[in-house]
Amino acid sequence: MKNVTVGEFIAESQNNFPGSTGELSKILSSIKLASKIVSHQINKAGLAKEILGSSGRENVQGEDQQKLDVFANDSFINALSARGVICGVASEENDSFVEFNSTVNNDAKYVVLIDPLDGSSNIDVNVSVGSIFSVYKRITDKGSNVDIKDFLQPGNRQVASGYIIYGSSTMLVYTTGKGVNGFTFDPSIGVFFLSHPDMKTPNDGTIYSVNEGNLNYFKKPVADYIKYCQSSNKDQMKTAYSSRYIGSLVADFHRNLIKGGIYLYPSTGTNPNGKLRLTYECAPLAFLIEQAGGRAISENQRIMDIVPTELHQRVPFFVGSKNMIDHLEENLESESRSI
Ligand code: AHG
Ligand code: MN
Ligand code: MN
Repeated sequence: MKNVTVGEFIAESQNNFPGSTGELSKILSSIKLASKIVSHQINKAGLAKEILGSSGRENVQGEDQQKLDVFANDSFINALSARGVICGVASEENDSFVEFNSTVNNDAKYVVLIDPLDGSSNIDVNVSVGSIFSVYKRITDKGSNVDIKDFLQPGNRQVASGYIIYGSSTMLVYTTGKGVNGFTFDPSIGVFFLSHPDMKTPNDGTIYSVNEGNLNYFKKPVADYIKYCQSSNKDQMKTAYSSRYIGSLVADFHRNLIKGGIYLYPSTGTNPNGKLRLTYECAPLAFLIEQAGGRAISENQRIMDIVPTELHQRVPFFVGSKNMIDHLEENLESESRSI
C-alpha cells in the first residue's frame, strides 16, 4: 500500500470540495507544523531542565502553568498567525481570545480554539500528553474585528477538530465532518503518515475511565453506573469491565476510541460543572467521537448542542462507545424522572 502523508491526504480531501479556497488546509498544515515542534520538545523533556516543571505562573483558571504549557501555547499561536488564515485564536492558557491584527488575518474566515497541552501535569513523569484543536467559521464579517461571539459557538458548528497525542509515538487524529483519520509521525523523516484510516469506535466496550477517587462526590446516577462497572467483574454472567485512567484526557480518549469504552468527568462537590472545558476540550472530542460512531453528552444534553456562554466554561463530560453512553444516559434520565 502506498504511504500517504497527511499533507497529501489534506490536499486530496480538498479536491473533493469544489470551490474550496484551501484555507482550512493551511490551518491543518499550521497545526501539523506546531505539533512537530511541540513533539520534539516533549521528547527531550526529561533532559532539558529549562522546559521541565512549573513556569511559576497561573492561568486564568487558577491552574499552575507548566513551562511546556507556555511553550506549546506560543508554538500553536505563532504557527496559526503566521499564515494569515485565521483571524483569532482562543486558548486555555490565555484569559481572553487573541486577535490577529493584520489586514490579511482580519480578512480570514476561520477562528481556532486550542488546549495547547492537555494533561500537562503528566509531563514530569513521562506519561502521554496531547493537544486539542477546534475550527469554526467566524460569525462576524470578514475584514472586521474578531469578537467573543465568534468563539462561543455550539460544537455542532465546528468545521474541523482533532488532537495530537504525544505518546509512545506521536499521532494526529482529525475530522472535517467526513469521518475520522489518524496519522502517525515518523520522526526519522519528520512526516505524518496515514496509519488509521476511517476510524470507528466499537459500539460497546469494556473500559471505564474516571477519577475513581472522586466517587463519593458524584451524583447518584453516575455513582451507580461506576458501581455497576466495578461489580461487573465479580459476576461472570455480565461483561467484565476494566478501569483505565491516565489523567491525560487525550490519552484516555484515544485509547477508548480505538478499544471501545467510556470516559467520565462528572460534577463533583468542589467542581459542580466538572473540570473539563467545553470549547477546547469537550466539543472537539465530541465532534470526533460522533464522527467515529460514538456519543458525547453532558448530564442531560448532547455536548455538540451546548451553546457556550464563556470561553473557559466547564461542563460535566461523558464520552465514548454508543451503548455505554446510552446506558449511563438511562441512569441519568430515570433519576431525573424520580425527582
Ligand atoms: P490540562 O492539562 O489541559 O489542564 O487538562 C487536565 C485535565 C485532563 O487532561 C485530565 O483528563 C484531567 O485534567 C484529569 O483531572 P483529575 O486529575 O481531576 O482526574
Ligand atoms: Mn486539557
Ligand atoms: Mn492544557
